[in-house]
Amino acid sequence: FESGLLAGKHVVITAGPTREALDPVRYISNHSSGKMGYALATAAVEAGARVTLISGPSQLPAPDRVEFVSIDSAEQMLTASMQAAEHCDMFIGGAAVCDYRPEAISEHKIKKQGEATLTLSLVPNPDIIASVVKQYPAVYSVAFAAETENVLEYARAKRVKKGVHCIIANDVSDDHIGFNSDENAVTIIDRSGDIRLDQRSKAQLARDLIELLANKSEQAKDT
Ligand code: C5P
Repeated sequence: FESGLLAGKHVVITAGPTREALDPVRYISNHSSGKMGYALATAAVEAGARVTLISGPSQLPAPDRVEFVSIDSAEQMLTASMQAAEHCDMFIGGAAVCDYRPEAISEHKIKKQGEATLTLSLVPNPDIIASVVKQYPAVYSVAFAAETENVLEYARAKRVKKGVHCIIANDVSDDHIGFNSDENAVTIIDRSGDIRLDQRSKAQLARDLIELLANKSEQAKDT
């Protein structure tokens, strides 16, 4: 794409998993690698944007020329996102945010309960992208929907529920794409319809997505 496609624009991207502490040495998390979010950040930089990448723990190096914000928990990601999104043009929720966190973080290491069952009490985490949409409705907002069944149907419902302009649906029941893979295939859904992007590398997919989203965000301003 043209390198100036996002010149003068500020794009905020969340990526990776969140990590929800149980005690000083343990946490709840998920297997998100951060690959898709980091690839999107790289592509947005190539397109000329100023990019803030808000990332949970990931093995990946921070891409060149991004403003990198490292966080652990969903609550930290929310605070960083609300701050970064205030004057941004586009917000992309690429993170696999934990839906729940432990109700309390134990000050000391939780001790083994002998043979007894240990029950953890979890409370829901805030929905980060829905909060951004509510606070900054003028920001062009993009969420991901990773589904294992009824992919497009669930993704369409999620787009409306979260109030985002656009949702990127991917089928994570297929081992060859998604989560930890280097390749992905997605369907981009907004109110004008669906666009299918067949399987390709995450780097190429990210460039194709950034080009599409740049155009869509410009069109959204005209309507
Ligand atoms: O609701 P679900 O987790 O399936 O939605 C996925 C999308 O919503 C992703 O874009 C993810 O980054 C975002 N999300 C979020 N905050 C949450 C949960 C998901 O921003 N607490």
